[in-house]
Amino acid sequence: MGASYLAVGWNRQKKIYDGLIAGFCIGYLALFISLTLIFNEQATFETILIRSTSTLAVLLLHVILAIGPLCRLNKKFLPLLYNRRHLGVTMFSLALIHGSFSILQFHALGNTNPLVSLFSSNTNYGSLPAFPFQALGFFALIIFFLMAITSHDFWLHHLSPKVWKSLHMFVYLAYFLVVMHVMLGVIQYEKNPLFVAIIFIGAVTLVTLHLLAANKERRTDHRQFALQKEGFVSVCGVNDIEDSRAKIFCIDKERIAVYRHENKLFAIHNVCKHQGGPLGEGKILDGCITCPWHGYQYLPQNGQSPPPFTEKVSTYDVKVVDGKVWLNPNPYPEGTERPGCLV
Ligand code: HEM
Ligand code: FES
Repeated sequence: MGASYLAVGWNRQKKIYDGLIAGFCIGYLALFISLTLIFNEQATFETILIRSTSTLAVLLLHVILAIGPLCRLNKKFLPLLYNRRHLGVTMFSLALIHGSFSILQFHALGNTNPLVSLFSSNTNYGSLPAFPFQALGFFALIIFFLMAITSHDFWLHHLSPKVWKSLHMFVYLAYFLVVMHVMLGVIQYEKNPLFVAIIFIGAVTLVTLHLLAANKERRTDHRQFALQKEGFVSVCGVNDIEDSRAKIFCIDKERIAVYRHENKLFAIHNVCKHQGGPLGEGKILDGCITCPWHGYQYLPQNGQSPPPFTEKVSTYDVKVVDGKVWLNPNPYPEGTERPGCLV
């Protein structure tokens, strides 16, 4: 699978994913607008638009941040991860509508430039209860904007996966800014504690999920392998690995995926060349190890993406003795052909 392709391919899964996102957003906005019209007759069109898009953006932001740890805890959530970027771009678009209408409503009616007014109409930067919370929303929006415009694989390829990943880690800073934006804004605008309660529950849920997922990974990474012989380490029983699936083992800080395919075992480096997805959590499709995150593929016997793609990962030796799987953690150069071993 090449990171250098330019065309956007709309496969069936992408269409279903996007259809579900659109359906959910339309349903949420319709419900929010109906309930506001029923319970708050004085609400203006602008207020309804500002509040419906902001709350939906925050809800989607929580879903986006929960997907990573949920997938680490349970593979059933993996379909959500595929095209998570579409959720991110949707969230940014909603936040942009909210931010733009807020600026129009609160900062565009005077003589001052609206963007200057955003930062100068309230200069209580030293006071927590009167803090100009809009500025925090503005900076969060800038981060979401940078993430949205670089979300395509074209940018991943040109910036390099490392820079791209580092840029996208700023989502946690943006999340913090949004939390503070809402908390400080609610103190000033809205006496209903519901907003604070929802944001608090959301933040606690996210922190808990991240801690649980980190703990699960730590247990895999710190597993001790007592039996070692001639460079090989005994990792599990043959029947512990299902057909077309893998188990991941961390030896000397390297994560290795041991796959079972057509009654043979093959071992490759666990880290996908696209965005570092866990190859051992994928499965074999059409004879290729398929990354669970976005579907990059590698041949089990040599760790190479099938032509015309050029990605390669390291391969390892594996053998079976008396029903036990033995793995040699010394990597072969990326793309090296290995025979695998019969089970
Ligand atoms: C230029 C950027 C932004 C500006 C100027 C801005 C401005 C505002 C204003 C004036 C309010 C109070 C509105 C009211 O109560 O009627 C507000 C509330 C809120 N904002 Fe923002 N905001 C920005 C960005 C964001 C972003 C990026 C998010 C989240 C993704 C966000 C989420 C919220 C939420 C959840 C509320 C509370 C619900 C509401 O009153 O709408 N805001 N914002
Ligand atoms: S395909 Fe994207 S990380 Fe593997």
